[in-house]
Amino acid sequence: MRKTIVAGNWKMNKTPKEALELIETLKPLVAGRDDVEVVFCPPFIDLMLAVEATKGTNIKIGAQNMYFEESGAYTGEVAPNMVKEAGCEYVILGHSERRAYFGETDETVNKKVLKAFEHELKPIICVGETLEQREQGITEDLVRMQTKIALKDVPAEQAVLAVIAYEPVWAIGTGKTATSVQAEEVCAAIRKVLCEIYDEETASKIRIQYGGSVNAGNAAELFAMPNIDGGLVGGASLKADFAKIVNF
Ligand code: PGA
Repeated sequence: MRKTIVAGNWKMNKTPKEALELIETLKPLVAGRDDVEVVFCPPFIDLMLAVEATKGTNIKIGAQNMYFEESGAYTGEVAPNMVKEAGCEYVILGHSERRAYFGETDETVNKKVLKAFEHELKPIICVGETLEQREQGITEDLVRMQTKIALKDVPAEQAVLAVIAYEPVWAIGTGKTATSVQAEEVCAAIRKVLCEIYDEETASKIRIQYGGSVNAGNAAELFAMPNIDGGLVGGASLKADFAKIVNF
């Protein structure tokens, strides 16, 4: 049985003070849902206080990115052991915004995934097509390739700890959600490729989230699909509404 995982990707929002306010608002609202894993992914600057503020609660903390080197002359980057020591359990890797604006490629995502596991961080690996790619009919090819490259050299016993987030780029921050049927179709294709890389048992253990304009109104239908094990939530994770998604 895969445990549903609902993660809030705060993106570049919330100062430390604002982060604490949001955490205090959400804490009681998401409490007591033992069947759902709840993860907040605030900006780096908020991570340590978010870990502190969520101690003893059901909320886990994740980073939105990290670098694949251990330390050194990489101005502006954050190393995996820093993310780990800050108290993070998860790290989002390969988000489409990082791919589009910061030159992230399938290869750098793979390097980061391997590093994350080395430091016992669980990666939330983002894959997904643009509108142009969907219209061209290459959605599944692309997502298969992104998934395969991201997991290159990752053994099955680590892969089961990873989360794959299927996030169609055209649905991110646009208010245009994929229909549950569209989302399920691609998530099922991802499950199939996981089965090809590993085996059926491994593939059946890996959680696949849908992301892209998830909100309190559409979460229940999306999460009810057989291959969708929760959501990666952007805009709606910054409001009390996030609790409604967790309590879908
Ligand atoms: P959105 O973002 O929910 O605002 O569409 C999702 C994401 O980018 O993870």
